[in-house]
Amino acid sequence: MALDLKIDISRAMADAVGEEHGVTKAELKEIEPRIAEAHAILRKERADGVYGFWSLHEDKKTLADVKETADEFLKNGYENLVILGIGGSALGTTALVTALRSKFYNIMTKRGRGNRPRIFVMDNIDPDTFKKMMKLCPPQKTLYNVISKSGNTAETMSQLMIAVEAIEKKFGKDAVKKHVVVTSNPRGQGAAKSLLHPVADEYGLKCFDMPLNVGGRFSVFSTVGLFPAAMLGMDLDALFEGCAAMDARCAKAEMKENPAYLRAAIQYIADTKKGKVMSVMMPYSDALRDVADWYCQLWAESLGKKHGLDGSEVYTGQTPIKALGATDQHSQIQLYREGPNNKLINVLEVGRFESSLKIPDNLKSLTELEYLRGKTMNKLMAAELQGTVDALTLSKRPVSRITLPRVNEHTVAQLLYMLEAETAMAGRLYGVNTFDQPGVEEGKQIARKLMGGKG
Ligand code: PA5
Repeated sequence: MALDLKIDISRAMADAVGEEHGVTKAELKEIEPRIAEAHAILRKERADGVYGFWSLHEDKKTLADVKETADEFLKNGYENLVILGIGGSALGTTALVTALRSKFYNIMTKRGRGNRPRIFVMDNIDPDTFKKMMKLCPPQKTLYNVISKSGNTAETMSQLMIAVEAIEKKFGKDAVKKHVVVTSNPRGQGAAKSLLHPVADEYGLKCFDMPLNVGGRFSVFSTVGLFPAAMLGMDLDALFEGCAAMDARCAKAEMKENPAYLRAAIQYIADTKKGKVMSVMMPYSDALRDVADWYCQLWAESLGKKHGLDGSEVYTGQTPIKALGATDQHSQIQLYREGPNNKLINVLEVGRFESSLKIPDNLKSLTELEYLRGKTMNKLMAAELQGTVDALTLSKRPVSRITLPRVNEHTVAQLLYMLEAETAMAGRLYGVNTFDQPGVEEGKQIARKLMGGKG
């Protein structure tokens, strides 16, 4: 289909960059039985409902609830939607907003009744930024969506406490329900029960459930990402259709027919056999720049593990790096081409941009600019991308390429879904638990203790 995502691993292969740095056909063949074995396990886990991210797009009931709730809240004419959340509770929304709304969305969008709100994803606790946000987004004009799977994350809870105080002070306790929506684990479930439920009960807040079997970094297609997307008028049906289209491709057991498995195999072999201990995600598109950020969390938190599934010490994981083409050609590419050959570079390409922008036929006194005159910025972007890929190949640096025919709900959903499936397969190849994050949890507990809490 015209909107299908394409992957191209040819420049990561030994034929392109030599056996020392590229994956050989024999190595791919060798890993096939492991992929098949992992596929069977992943399918069984899915069927048993162990990990729910695979089928979030099948949950039409949640989709309807999200749409209906967004329509109701939109009637209040908020000027701002503020997301209070961190890590997996924030990065997916940021990726969707940057991809599917313009870089200048907040500046360009009309505010107030009948219009969509601006969006601010507050994924940190820098007091200066937060204070400025509270000034920019006063409670009377703002809907705060507090998102925390555990409902117990210090950063997010502190943000919520500040927002609730501001609303209560100005309009009284009863007004809080008009300005705060909660997204968290279902009631009474989860290791530590969500503290957001007692808050919701006290103030009568709308609560969205985030499925218990979906981890934060795999939650973009749950209520976590869907409600903000609905508030901004994104096409949720197209998002789900994109997931379904990629789900069908990722359901194939055959590695060569499954883009997620093939990419996982390439990244895994590159890391473990070719010393490519870093995985760069480099979109050549401003819209996709935060997909790279989202990918960094997904890849790092899922695969960076001390222990394997059998309990042994393994210390796995590639270090993910985000870059942006063409911008970072003027910052990082020097290192990628001439520094240590320890990276696999994932280039994200857009087949067709929304607009075509012609470079004018002017500044005629400068003959040096003849090659630009009358061409398009689109053509220049494509040339920069191809030039970089070719230059990297000349330096024997492996490149894996993903092409989105264009950027829209359907293709972005395919991309995120594929990267999630790829991560799940990569976790199996490394033999680690892809879905936990003991290293993060410990840090959270220590910080809580330092603040005088129970740890
Ligand atoms: O992927 C994850 O599970 C983490 O990054 C969490 O999303 C992050 O730590 C925030 O946790 P919570 O949503 O429970 O507040």
